[in-house]
Amino acid sequence: MATGAVPAEGGGYTGPVETSALLDPRLLIVTGKGGVGKSTVAAAVALASARQGARTCLVEVEGRHIFSRLFDTQAWDFTEREFRSGLWGMSIDPEASLREYLDMFYGARRLSRLVASSSAVEFATTAAPGIKDVLLIGKAKELERRRNPDGRFCYDLVVLDAPPTGRIVNFLRAPDVTTELVNVGPIRQQAQSLIDMLSDHRRTNLLLVTMLEEMPVAETLDSAAALRGLGVAIGPVLVNRVLAERTDKAASKAMAELSAADLQALLVTAGVELDAEAATALLDAGAASTKRLQLQRRQRNQLGKQLQVPTLELPYVYSERFSADELGILASVIERAVEG
Ligand SMILES: Nc1ncnc2c1ncn2[C@@H]1O[C@H](COP(=O)(O)OP(=O)(O)OP(=O)(O)O)[C@@H](O)[C@H]1O
Ligand SMILES: [Mg+2]
Repeated sequence: MATGAVPAEGGGYTGPVETSALLDPRLLIVTGKGGVGKSTVAAAVALASARQGARTCLVEVEGRHIFSRLFDTQAWDFTEREFRSGLWGMSIDPEASLREYLDMFYGARRLSRLVASSSAVEFATTAAPGIKDVLLIGKAKELERRRNPDGRFCYDLVVLDAPPTGRIVNFLRAPDVTTELVNVGPIRQQAQSLIDMLSDHRRTNLLLVTMLEEMPVAETLDSAAALRGLGVAIGPVLVNRVLAERTDKAASKAMAELSAADLQALLVTAGVELDAEAATALLDAGAASTKRLQLQRRQRNQLGKQLQVPTLELPYVYSERFSADELGILASVIERAVEG
């Protein structure tokens, strides 16, 4: 963390995180530009981790019920539930986090229930905007540190579907800001323990999700620079919704030179009759796809040249409704990457 932060012992910079080590940390904070597939990728990472035998908890922070729809489960709330073997899910809300926090530190359940009403949370949030983020990260830390009676950690991995890159720097700086405001006491200690977790490269990695399009790539490059300044470790960048290259250069060239009449004639030999308009539409679709693939290649180069962080590409999965099956395809790609 940038200011006043004391990194945890032994948690300093350890070089770029290889793709094979994607699932190694204890907390993965998944972020990216709005709409690139952060939630989908967070779910796929969690699923891959659980399938690899790690006890994994997937955490939603914005209460949009994305995961319960994706996995077709009942609505998620503040109570973790194991909805697949080795895979738990929960939805953090700041009000419940505040109640739990007060309970933990002051042991006053009745008092805290009174204090942690919506208006108290609203008051705290308005007075110190970072407090909500501190509460969210605090809950993630509680999950990350929680131990069973036998002393072993409850979860091997916690995956947090975090706010988008536009908000991530302030989100991650919230504990730092709190230590600047509060010098002593349990709140200060709690904030410092969050800084320790976030700046320990073995415990916490940030996963940036992007797509091979101009705006998401530009935003990824910008945020990687800002995040490096914070001292948080960036894991492999997950490049989502990558279109498959189905033709080589020669085939693309041949297709580009084909006229509607050529295509009609070719299809007739295969017993298919298309009118000129339909043949033109088919050629246009082919040309649009070729253009899209060229853009994809350009953006891949751009990302590779400027980011210098390992990347893992996840395919665009065609389907009418993206559900657990489609998620399984992405999880398999992640599993293959970590298996090497
Ligand atoms: N690999 C993929 N192949 C096909 N569709 C995908 C893929 N990844 C995500 N999608 C689809 O893209 C859309 C956006 O995904 P998602 O909700 O995960 O994005 P997000 O970044 O979390 O969005 P937001 O910023 O709103 O939280 C969804 O309809 C999802 O099903
Ligand atoms: Mg989302």
